[in-house]
Parts: sequence; structure tokens; C-alpha cells
Amino acid sequence: MPLVPMRILLDHAAENNYGLAAFNVNNMEQIQAIMEAAGQTDSPVIVQASKGARGYTNDAYLRHLMLAAVELNPKLPIAMHQDHGNSPETCLSAMKQGFTSVMMDGSLSADGKTPSTYEYNVQVTRQVVRAAHAKGVTVEGEIGTLGGIEDGHGAGLTAAEAAKHLTDPAQAERFVADTGVDALAVAIGTSHGAYKFTHKPTGDVLVMSVIEEIHRRLPNCHLVMHGSSSVPQELLEIIRRYGGQMKETYGVPVEEIQRGIQHGVRKVNVDTDCRLAITGAIRKVFAEHPEEFDPRKYLSPARDAMKEVCVARMTAFGQAGNAGKIKVRTCKQMIAFYNPKPKPKARKVAKKPARKAARKPARKPAKKPARKPGRKTGRKR
Ligand code: G3H
Ligand code: 13P
Ligand code: ZN
Repeated sequence: MPLVPMRILLDHAAENNYGLAAFNVNNMEQIQAIMEAAGQTDSPVIVQASKGARGYTNDAYLRHLMLAAVELNPKLPIAMHQDHGNSPETCLSAMKQGFTSVMMDGSLSADGKTPSTYEYNVQVTRQVVRAAHAKGVTVEGEIGTLGGIEDGHGAGLTAAEAAKHLTDPAQAERFVADTGVDALAVAIGTSHGAYKFTHKPTGDVLVMSVIEEIHRRLPNCHLVMHGSSSVPQELLEIIRRYGGQMKETYGVPVEEIQRGIQHGVRKVNVDTDCRLAITGAIRKVFAEHPEEFDPRKYLSPARDAMKEVCVARMTAFGQAGNAGKIKVRTCKQMIAFYNPKPKPKARKVAKKPARKAARKPARKPAKKPARKPGRKTGRKR
């Protein structure tokens, strides 16, 4: 089957109350890891690429890797998503490359760093929604701003600053009405990268209640959690054991994500956990076999380690076992969903003339000269 619009997957997840992990990709091994995990667990797939990933791979390589994933996994519905589009141009170019879903992250200005205004966010998101829905492509927007960043995409805010940029539920409600997005990323205290929390997060720093309130106001909106790697201690430990330097840090516990899924979260972004798994596996090979120089010898275990993370998240979020149950629709079919044709107007039935009017003598129609069959009317043709 062709790449599917992400909306199809989100709708199925909402109808059946599960979440979908969205994994970031930058190379062949990462795509292979995700697809192997999905095949093993019968999971629908969201693969996403950041602007940086598209620059790193070059769109053409990425596109062909995705086409290979589709060709090799004809039974799995796969959505290809632009992660954190920084401008309408980035989203439009993704659509040209065949992405079936785009995120317009107007919570930040086009530099991807500076928090923007509500008006700017609405303007750019609306623009992308209009263009994307005309092609049946799904759109994710963001309201509120994620926190700190040591790598990857984000606002670079301190924890205290980030707290000020948590999503305001009332504004989220207005934003969805103002833009028509299919899915909404919300800021609840998470941040991109490995350094999210200094201790196992409690409700004051990982503010799950914001999700609950937004879901109460917008029960039909698909919510998205960014910065949702769990940063497992065992993956940090492997990296440290083999010479890496990882400071003490904590991520988003899987059980908190599961709580989010109970309150409307349908897409969960995971990048860092895959990076940690890959790095740990490569370090292990280098430490144990310093003589090794064949990339396949360290990229294969790296791929296996990432696959393990993907299987674990697909299972924990509930998407496992659902690939075969989804009624697939193409982007082309989604065009009609977004732009329903107006119903034809009911034919006007001639009204009986009102009594008063009926009494009025009808005007005599001007007498037309009778036309003889076959005779020209004299009208110019
Ligand atoms: O949004 C954050 C993802 O982890 C992507 O990071 O911009 O380094 O590819 P990246
Ligand atoms: P992590 O850095 O927590 O994996 O978040 C990834 C993300 O949100 C991508 O958009
Ligand atoms: Zn993100």
C-alpha cells in the first residue's frame, strides 16, 4: 500500500484508545529498525524527519528509503511526517517530496528558537492547513513552547522559562478552531534531548493535568506529546560503561505517557531513546573490539538496539496488533474528506399562489406567432 495520511492512523488510534509512537529517522538503519519492530508487532507506523534530518540525508535518499520501507512492508500502513516544520516553505517542500503529514511549528519563529506570537502561529499554521488539506495531507500544529535543548530542535528555554510557556488550555481550544489542524502538540514541561528532568518527574514539572484539561475541552482533537523519550537508566548505563559521558538525567516515564493516552494523546514523539540505544551499542562494539573497522559490525547491533526500543514503545503505547485492522485511505481520498462538496440544493417546488394573488387577473402573455415546423426563426445562430 502507498504511504498513508497520518490522520487515518490517528483516527483509528482514537477510536480504539491507543497511542502511536512517532520515531525520528536520519539514515537507513533507523528506518530498518522501525520497520522490523512494526513487522514483528503488527504496528501502524509513523516515521518522522526533522528539517535537520532532511538536510543530512538529502531528500532524495530519504524518499527512496521510505519507498523501500513501503515496498518491503506492503501490509503495514506507514505515514511519513515532517517533524517541526519551521516555516510554510519547509512544509510545502515536504509535501512535494511525498510526505503524507506535516507539522507546522509556529510556536517558534522561523529560526526555530524564538517563541512567536499567537497571531503569527495562527497565520502560518492556517496557511499550511489550507495547502495540505487541498492535497489530503495531515497537519500537526503546536501551541505553547517546549523547554531546553542540548541537541535537536527546541526553544532553548530554561526550566523556569519553559514553565511560563506551558500550553494554556483555553488558547489551545481557540487555536484548533482558528486553524483547523488535525493534531495538536502541547507543552506540558517536556523538552527535547536527554536532559529533561533532574529527578524522576513529578506533577509540578511534568504537568499532565494540562493534557487532561485540554482533552476535556477538545475531546475530538488528537493530542501530541513531544520530547517524550523516557531516557531509560539502563541505556545511559551502557553508554557510561563503554566510555561515554552522560550526566544524571530523567525522561518521561512510560506510565505517564500511558496516562496521556487515556486523555487524548495519540502521537508520542521519540527520538532520544533511539539515539541512546544506537550510541550504547556502537560504543560497546568499539570498546570490546577495538580492532573492528567494518561499519556493518557496529551498525547491525545498533539497529538491533533501536529495534528493541521501538518494540517496547509500540507495545506500551498500544499500537501493536493494529496494523491489519486499519481501513486505509489515500491522500487523494482524504481530499474529499477535508473539502466535502456542498450538497445539491433541493429543487424548489412551485408554491401555490397565495389566495389574494390568485384573485388578481393574470397578465395576458404576449401572443407569439405560431412557428411552423422546419421554418427558420430568423434568429442568428
Ligand atoms: O525535534 C527534535 C528531534 O529530536 C529532531 O532532532 O533536529 O536534531 O533532527 P534534530
Ligand atoms: P525526544 O528528544 O524526547 O526523543 O523528543 C523527540 C521529539 O519530540 C521530536 O519532535
Ligand atoms: Zn519535538
